[in-house]
Amino acid sequence: MKRALIVASILLTCSVYAQETINYDESMVPTFIIPDMMVCNDGTRVTDVMTWEQKRRPEIMEYFFSQEYGRTRYEKIPVSYEDISRDRKALGGKATCRQVRFVFSNGEKKLEAIAMMMIPNKRKGKVPVFVAYNFKGNHSTVDDPAIEYSPNFGLVKKPDSPDWERGCQKSRWCFEKIIDRGYAVITMCYHDIYPDAHGQEMTDHSIVSLFPDYLERGTFSDAWGAIGAWAWGSSRIVDFLETQKWADLDKIAIMGHSRQGKAALWAGAQDERFKVVISNDSGCSGAAMAKRVFGENVARITRVFDWWFCPAYSFYSDNEAAMPFDQHELIALMAPRHVYVASAQEDRWADPKGEFLATSLASPAFELYGMEGLGTLEWPGIHQPIMHDVGYHIRAGVHDVTDYDWERYMDFCDLCFGR
Ligand code: GCU
Repeated sequence: MKRALIVASILLTCSVYAQETINYDESMVPTFIIPDMMVCNDGTRVTDVMTWEQKRRPEIMEYFFSQEYGRTRYEKIPVSYEDISRDRKALGGKATCRQVRFVFSNGEKKLEAIAMMMIPNKRKGKVPVFVAYNFKGNHSTVDDPAIEYSPNFGLVKKPDSPDWERGCQKSRWCFEKIIDRGYAVITMCYHDIYPDAHGQEMTDHSIVSLFPDYLERGTFSDAWGAIGAWAWGSSRIVDFLETQKWADLDKIAIMGHSRQGKAALWAGAQDERFKVVISNDSGCSGAAMAKRVFGENVARITRVFDWWFCPAYSFYSDNEAAMPFDQHELIALMAPRHVYVASAQEDRWADPKGEFLATSLASPAFELYGMEGLGTLEWPGIHQPIMHDVGYHIRAGVHDVTDYDWERYMDFCDLCFGR
């Protein structure tokens, strides 16, 4: 572990001084070897589900635990839920809007997070649910003044930030359309789980600080970072859903945008209660193939967002070719559940083509279960979604979450859930 850390710090220092070039030229994409996810580390070829589940899948998980997101802690952190409000007349009476405070405590220290739900009022039996973090607080998703500010928001936002404005990001949350199609949504501000900014103070306010090894973790090359923490938090939201009579636990989807798309994929890989895993524009260290080194790359992401990953990930700064794994293997970890990846045409930073490629290359894992992957290496046109057991679309426009995206996610979930 120590040696790994020394190597990490040398590489880190080098990468800070390395010329950080961002490539947007397809002809400059290096020729690379795609790691064969169907071959185990000892050379055994995977041809059946048993070898995949018992041997190869754990090996792939280990890559992501030890070399990218870090090792998730499994000690149980006690949590209590406190009802804050319940408005049965939300969205013109179509939905019930609830707020519930989660209080995480390790006996010495407490942290709070607030979940906000929109639950359809018109329902026959249990309803499918989207779990999805928001970036700018629950208050940013609707205009309603009764929505509380997220406990950690003040840590990351200055008092004069426009992000305190109610409804400031409601364009990303077409609640009415979602409710009309019979889905519920549960959201939470991701800063409540791990405040997304640089510095020790942020980590001290994150759930990571509640775990027993917190003070020593700085010395571990595989210490988990914010993406691991956000993924952990999504699973805690599912724990809460398990206490709710209205939630259909066989129909839980997780949707994450951008950095939250990375976290959604990682959550889906670890928690099989997510039956559909959706990555919206997740890009580098999410759905995009790292070895294409197109748009954002490992050197840049680990320099600017070092707290998202485990320290070992920066071994691959300017050195993606040396990675013994790549992001198509993360997508493959969802099998035999469902996964959907979405790109935006102008979002070159996230390498849309690399997102498509990784999704397509994940197919063999699904095929082991008799499921259908994307079935093509030909990048589909704009607004021509592919929906098999694995789905993909690229839409026109920039890095964002739009109604078009949500509508496709609901189409895909309808298919997967047999609705
Ligand atoms: C930055 C970052 C991306 C990330 C994005 C986002 O652009 O470089 O990796 O996905 O922010 O979360 O919006």
